[in-house]
Amino acid sequence: MKLIGPFKQVITLANLPLRGKLSDNQLEIIENGGILIENNLIKKVGKFDDFLNGVMLSEAEASDLEIEKIKTEQICLPSFVDSHTHILFGGNRANDFAMRNAGKTYLEIAEQGGGIWSSVLHTRKESKKELLEKLLERINFLLNNGISTIEIKSGYGLNVKNELKMLRIIKEAQTKTPATLIPTCLAAHLKPKDFNGNNEDYLNYILKEILPKVKEENLAKRVDIFIEKTAFQPEESKNFLLKAKEMGFEITVHADQFTSGSGRLAAEIGAKSADHLEATIDEDIDFIAKSETVATALPGASLGLGEKFTPAGKLLNAGAILAIASDWNPGSAPMGNLITQASILATYEKLTTAEVLAGITFRAAHALSLNDIGKLEENFKANFVTFRTDNFQNILYNQGSLKMENLYINGNKI
Ligand code: NIG
Ligand code: FE
Repeated sequence: MKLIGPFKQVITLANLPLRGKLSDNQLEIIENGGILIENNLIKKVGKFDDFLNGVMLSEAEASDLEIEKIKTEQICLPSFVDSHTHILFGGNRANDFAMRNAGKTYLEIAEQGGGIWSSVLHTRKESKKELLEKLLERINFLLNNGISTIEIKSGYGLNVKNELKMLRIIKEAQTKTPATLIPTCLAAHLKPKDFNGNNEDYLNYILKEILPKVKEENLAKRVDIFIEKTAFQPEESKNFLLKAKEMGFEITVHADQFTSGSGRLAAEIGAKSADHLEATIDEDIDFIAKSETVATALPGASLGLGEKFTPAGKLLNAGAILAIASDWNPGSAPMGNLITQASILATYEKLTTAEVLAGITFRAAHALSLNDIGKLEENFKANFVTFRTDNFQNILYNQGSLKMENLYINGNKI
């Protein structure tokens, strides 16, 4: 067994509910805490001294203890989960960003040959090796910010060959990083310009030609779709998602980004998460909040596009399971800094520190069906992050500029 500590504060996030509002005095904060690890899992969290003086451990256990002593003042909390990213892509869309700031909208740029389609062309063109290198660089950026679990979508391939190429690259990346990667098939990002047929034909093509291969090669267990005026319509999307579900995939939806209605649809058909929700109307907020579907706010997309934020405060008031993710992608959300984005969302949506921390840990993990990360509790994975500071409030207060000190995955320092 290994004991790590002492930490000035250990914020366990233990015993917090999955849904609804949280106040900061619900946080369990152990002063001068230690974390006991056995077989890569958390065994106990408690006062560091109590592990040594016989309160927490038997004499035999104490004599067999490896101690990893923390020498500087640090605090410790569960490492973060980014439950929505598009970090595998070729090229760059700085020109889209500049055009938006000069007055064009995201949708106008898409119509003029920029947007998602231009990332598809770049991603198709680049070699597996190049794309893998870029992906690993972005994964390292996230690891360096305390994020140890990362969802990654395909969606810049948009045909059998290139969607599989993307998902295989993610699978290969998993063999080269300590981060946990959760792949999602987003072949339904957009009907590609070179597809011969209408939206329904393309969605059927995904169901017949792409998803069976994804299953066969075990490339992803999740399927996503972009429901929006310029992408896929609600009715055709519903049919597609129900069929994907029948094939055994979990489903998640890009919903209500500019137009409302699809968030409610996602909740109705039992999606694991409905992501974006910037345009969700009040009635639907209530409906989604009462469902099992996680509502995922993507403040990075609001910041990248200059659009309004997801109504995270209202969602929590109504009892939602609120996650916060970066949506890191070359178009709408190029920043990739989840802590900065979550801190900014907190100031605009009046979220407590507990609500933000829950949103980027166990609530985000729940959206990915991972129920053994995101809290420092017995039998959870020993995945945690430390910061060189004396108080956990400084993490959000510094809006991302307080950098993490160390990241532990499965009890090992990365
Ligand atoms: O979540 N909304 C659609 N998809 C992405 C953007 C992808 C892109 O612009 O390349 C999003 O914002
Ligand atoms: Fe997205």
